[in-house]
Amino acid sequence: MLASKSFAGLAAGAVKTSLRSYASAAPTAAFAGQKAANGKYTVTLVPGDGIGPEISEAVKNIYTAAGVPIQWEEVSVNPVLKGGRTVIPDAAIHSIKKNTVALKGPLATPIGKGHVSLNLTLRRTFNLFANVRPCVSIKGFKTPYDDVDTVLIRENTEGEYSGIEHEVVDGVVQSIKLITWDASERVARYAFHYAQTSGRKRVTAVHKANIMKMSDGMFLSACREVSKEFPDVKYDEDLLDRVCLQITQNPRPYSDRVMVMPNLYGDILSDMCAGLIGGLGLTPSGNIGRDASIFEAVHGSAPDIAGQGKANPTALLLSSMMMLRHMNLVDFATKIEKATLSTIAEGKFITGDLGGRASTSEYANAIIQKLGQ
Ligand SMILES: NC(=O)c1ccc[n+]([C@@H]2O[C@H](COP(=O)([O-])OP(=O)(O)OC[C@H]3O[C@@H](n4cnc5c(N)ncnc54)[C@H](O)[C@@H]3O)[C@@H](O)[C@H]2O)c1
Repeated sequence: MLASKSFAGLAAGAVKTSLRSYASAAPTAAFAGQKAANGKYTVTLVPGDGIGPEISEAVKNIYTAAGVPIQWEEVSVNPVLKGGRTVIPDAAIHSIKKNTVALKGPLATPIGKGHVSLNLTLRRTFNLFANVRPCVSIKGFKTPYDDVDTVLIRENTEGEYSGIEHEVVDGVVQSIKLITWDASERVARYAFHYAQTSGRKRVTAVHKANIMKMSDGMFLSACREVSKEFPDVKYDEDLLDRVCLQITQNPRPYSDRVMVMPNLYGDILSDMCAGLIGGLGLTPSGNIGRDASIFEAVHGSAPDIAGQGKANPTALLLSSMMMLRHMNLVDFATKIEKATLSTIAEGKFITGDLGGRASTSEYANAIIQKLGQ
C-alpha cells in the first residue's frame, strides 16, 4: 500500500514536491464467475448497433461449434428514460454485475447531441479502468509491416475524456483534462501485472509531461511508484510523438513491452497500431474493471455496411479470445484463434475489408471447418 507519494523527479518547473495520502487502488480484476449446474459460465452479450448483431451471430456460431462452455445472456443497452435522464436499462446493468464478464458489439454514439455515449456510460458504471489493446501482425495477411506485436494499456476513466467542458466567455471554451493519482496508480499497476503475467519484460509510460507537467507529470510519478513493486519488470518513459514516429519506422522493438498511457493518447496510438496490422476489422480490446470486464472490438457500428452480410467479425472474435483467456478458458481461445488466423492466412474465405469476397457467415463457416484440424 502506498501511503504517500512524492512528485519529485518531474520535468524541471513541474509541481513542487508534495506529500499526500490516498487509498491504494485494488490490484487487478481477476475473473470471479462461477459455473452453472450445467457446467457452463454465463456471459452477458450486448450485440450492439449496426453490424453488431451480424458479427455477434458469427461469434456465437463459432463458439457453439467449438464447444466453449459458455451460455450467453443477451441484453440490450438501448438507453431508456429514467427520472428525465437517458440511462442504460437496469436489466443490462444487473446482468453484467452478476456475470462479471461481457462481450459487447459496437454502439453508435450521436455526435454533438442526443444521449451521452453509452460506451462512456458503461466504462463509468463498471469503473472499467484499463483498456487493453493488443495489435499483432496476422501471418499471411500482408501489410507494409510484418512484425507488429504491441500491447497498449489506456487509462479508461478520466483524462481528456472526463467530459468537463464549459464556456468561459462568448467564443472561449475550456475542456478539462482530469488526472487523479488513484486512477493513474490503478492503471499503472494493471500494466505491470499484465507485463508480468504475459512474459513482457518492460513497461513504458507514454506521455507529454514536457508540456503537461502537472497532469502527465503526476501520471508518471504514479507509474514510477508502482514500478518499485515490480523489480523484475523494467520501467521507462517516452514521449507520445517520439513513440508514434518510432513505431511507424520500426515496430519490432516494441514487442518486448507494455505501453501505458492517459486516455486520449491511448485512443489515438492504438488506432495507429491497428493501421499497421491491417485496420480496425482485426483489432480486439478488453475493458478491465474491478467488478466486471467488458470485451469489445475497437471498431464502431459501421453503418455504411450494416445488414449487408459484409462485416468482418474477426475483431469481435479476437476480443472474445481475450475474454476466454481472462476466464482461464485458454485452450478454447488457442483453438479458435488458430482456426481464425489460418482462415485469414489461407485467404479463400475472407471478407471485403481484407480484400476477399466472403460474407460474414461464409467466413465464420470456414473457421468452423478448421476447428477440428
Ligand atoms: N466501441 C464502440 O462501440 C465504438 C467505437 C468506435 C465508434 N463507435 C460508433 O460507431 C459509429 C460509426 O463510427 P465510424 O463510422 O466512425 O467508425 P467505424 O469503425 O464504425 O467504421 C469505419 C470504417 O471501417 C469499416 N469497418 C469497421 N468495422 C468493420 C468490420 N468489422 N468489418 C468491415 N468493415 C468495418 C466501416 O465500414 C467504415 O468504412 C459511430 O456512431 C461511433 O460513435 C462505437
